[in-house]
Amino acid sequence: PEPGWVETTDVIVIGSGIAGLTAALHLREAGLHVTVVTKVNIDDGSTRWAQGGIAAVLDPLDTPAAHASDTELAGVGLCDPAAVRVLVEEGPTRLRELIRTGAEFDRNADGSLMLTREGGHRADRIVHAGGDATGAEVQRALHAAVGRDPWIRLVEHALVLDLLRSPGSGPADPGRACGITLHVLGEGSEDGVGAILARAVVLATGGMGQVFAATTNPAVSTGDGVALALRAGAAVTDLEFVQFHPTALIRPAGATGTGTTTDAQQPLVSEALRGEGAHLVDADGKRFMVGQHELAELAPRDVVAKGIHRVLLATGTDHVYLDARHLGADFLARRFPTIVASCLAAGVDPAVDPIPVAPAAHYASGGVRTDLFGRTSIPGLYACGEVACTGVHGANRLASNSLLEGLVFARRIAQDIARDLPAQAEPAPGGAWRGGTGAVVDPAVRAGLARAMTRGAGVLRSAGSLRATAAELVAFGATRGAPRTASWEATNLLTVASALVGAAYARQETRGCHWREDHPDSREDWLGHLISSIGQTGSF
Ligand code: SIN
Repeated sequence: PEPGWVETTDVIVIGSGIAGLTAALHLREAGLHVTVVTKVNIDDGSTRWAQGGIAAVLDPLDTPAAHASDTELAGVGLCDPAAVRVLVEEGPTRLRELIRTGAEFDRNADGSLMLTREGGHRADRIVHAGGDATGAEVQRALHAAVGRDPWIRLVEHALVLDLLRSPGSGPADPGRACGITLHVLGEGSEDGVGAILARAVVLATGGMGQVFAATTNPAVSTGDGVALALRAGAAVTDLEFVQFHPTALIRPAGATGTGTTTDAQQPLVSEALRGEGAHLVDADGKRFMVGQHELAELAPRDVVAKGIHRVLLATGTDHVYLDARHLGADFLARRFPTIVASCLAAGVDPAVDPIPVAPAAHYASGGVRTDLFGRTSIPGLYACGEVACTGVHGANRLASNSLLEGLVFARRIAQDIARDLPAQAEPAPGGAWRGGTGAVVDPAVRAGLARAMTRGAGVLRSAGSLRATAAELVAFGATRGAPRTASWEATNLLTVASALVGAAYARQETRGCHWREDHPDSREDWLGHLISSIGQTGSF
């Protein structure tokens, strides 16, 4: 069926976090009409939850080469050096632009930007805002800037379904991205599906943490962009590299709430707290990371998550502790107001009690594969931010490189689009309009799916655990739901979970944040990438 309504714009940006809004603002500098489509409200994505900050070389004693080296060390052989160079060299300029846009970062008494350190960084290069509320400030500033521009149309409460493509003329020309189908709550035709046509489409839909039962990601992070890309046949890579943040707050039994996060989303306890001197300890108060890595608690994130998981396995508990008591109540309240509030809401006073923490799914290092200008394998389709795999993260993202990546590659996408924007293409008839009419699964599968993923494809994986999870996913796929947002989201989760499990099963080694119990070593012959498509995992 044809969609119930059709609109036209120059460029569609899907997603409204740092990557999407930065892309929209730069596209406007090029004079283009932009439509930003977002699933719930403009501020509901991951960006506003970011605590630690944005990594950028600002200290005169620091260098882009040092930032690149730390990024590549964390990425364990799988970073694309050209993409990393772009990130570290363009990052400081993009950060200054963000400041000009209105974002206010914490400053020293002399007015210089305050810099801190996080895991894997060998220099102080993380800028932060409001102590530990960096993402909230960035989102506020970008939201305000977008709101000032009448030529950016914002469509909220809209779940994007599928990509529209021009017919193409054969295998060498498979057609251009020329729009999307979407469902806007409370609008549209009988089944609520409409279409927006555009000359280019930018995916900035964020991550997929909700695939797991324990995650720091908000409710909207359901892998919609990767699922759309998989359905459209775009190259998707490195899905096995899910980063588990070492320190999500574990609510003590009996705690009723944790401030503004939901049950599925666990409050983050920023690495910056370790950067300022907090220690990870076991139930006996022993600092177990000392001796495991030269940087101890400030080792790259995968190393710390593994260190914690080993303690959990050995002791049969569900948490270790982050001891920040020696930092003092005043310092904690001033520097980490968000974390202190989350802890207090859970009945933990970080000035008095060690904070119970455990790893939780935090960041998808992989995603829709792009080149240095955010171009995907489908002409006219771009990706930036967490949904993308630009090559900067490799097997494990370095702390605070994600907001930076959003800033840097969003601008490059806008540059590329402005340089080479073709006329509007007509969508291929028939199948191209199918958005929302394919089979969808029962949304009731979500909780079971997330539990199965955490059990079998979480921090520690094996062929056996992944096979068991894959079998559960097949069963979930046999259910059927009504065509509505909850079912489409559940279908997206199932699509990305299946691809993720396929990639994690295929990679028979341990590297970065992919930890295989049955293949504990990294292997030279695995210094390549896995490429996922629906029902299949290949390599290149
Ligand atoms: C944190 O503040 O620990 C998270 C920073 C990040 O994910 O880069």
